Amino acid sequence: MTQVHVTAPGRVNLIGEHTDYNEGFVMPAAIEQAIEISAHSRSDRQIIAGAAGFGPRLSFSLDQLEPPRGKPAWLDYLKAVCWALGEPGYTVHGADLSIESSIPIGAGLSSSAALEVAVAAALAALSGLTIPPTELALLCQKAESEFVGVHCGIMDQFAVTLGLENHALLLDCRSLEYSQIPLELGEQRLLIVDSRVERTLSGSAYNRRRAECEAAVRRLADCAGWPIRSLRDVALEEVKEARRFLPKTLYQRSRYVVEENSRVREAAAALCGGDLASFGYFMSRSHAGLRDLYQVSCPELDLIVETALAVPGVMGARMTGAGFGGCAVALLHKDCIEDTTASITAAFLDRGWAEPHYYRTTAANGVRVKSPPN
Ligand code: GLA
Repeated sequence: MTQVHVTAPGRVNLIGEHTDYNEGFVMPAAIEQAIEISAHSRSDRQIIAGAAGFGPRLSFSLDQLEPPRGKPAWLDYLKAVCWALGEPGYTVHGADLSIESSIPIGAGLSSSAALEVAVAAALAALSGLTIPPTELALLCQKAESEFVGVHCGIMDQFAVTLGLENHALLLDCRSLEYSQIPLELGEQRLLIVDSRVERTLSGSAYNRRRAECEAAVRRLADCAGWPIRSLRDVALEEVKEARRFLPKTLYQRSRYVVEENSRVREAAAALCGGDLASFGYFMSRSHAGLRDLYQVSCPELDLIVETALAVPGVMGARMTGAGFGGCAVALLHKDCIEDTTASITAAFLDRGWAEPHYYRTTAANGVRVKSPPN
């Protein structure tokens, strides 16, 4: 194949936040907003790429892949993917890539995972490689974690790769077993609200949360006297019993993760049973945990959630993604979308904050590769 067109969606996480790197459960869905790449193969070892709205085309050689020193630029994600594909021995060819995106950048809707997966899928197709979807997701996670330096979990790359239209993806991040749960919303809709508070995942706060969870695991293992691999292995009762041995922060982080894992399973059962009211309830409880115990929300996200929940017809709302800014997601009746956006906008303007951006979305398919007819 010498020419391909790839579409890779963003994702919205419905529930199960900061649980993936704790080997727990998550339930994201791929969204309509996506990255599109038109790619041509080259006969040399150069990657030449342009991203609409990001200035002139840039290039690098596949033989010189150096990790970013400071804040990663978009080209570093491409280098990261080329590096990760090479690790297990895949040989990719040079390529020309033209990138466009309808995913807001850095807003917690996985624009970086979409870029990684789109680039990996394009280069694999142009190089005649068939990489199974789970392996593709894992390689892109490795790219972000080991090359870009954000120690992310597997959720985003998995959702971008394996999302399915009108379905939520329930993923066990330890075994990587997953099921597609029909997202039968009836008259309800998903509304994404971008707080427009800029967050960078590579900022130290994300990595710090991960380190705190690892520290909590070590403490809990000492208390229990048996090996605990991750917070996935701990029951709520055990966290409560160990409270006096844990610094307050580590207690809060552990309690949140253990409770969130239960909520994901309860929310999945509610969705399977068509009980959207309970599903919404779990979303809102998840936000409370992220705000009070995991402490990754911010005043803008809290205001979005609080204002949305006060509108009749809103079933649930929560921040989505890593937090510290970015987006919230609400489950709400289609007839109350206008009221909800108007209330949130009014609340923001009242505080002198910039008006949020709103996105309606449905659950979309994961990455797709097309080759144009000859
Ligand atoms: C980011 C990471 C994911 C996950 C979420 C929080 O999106 O890339 O792996 O940890 O934050 O749930």
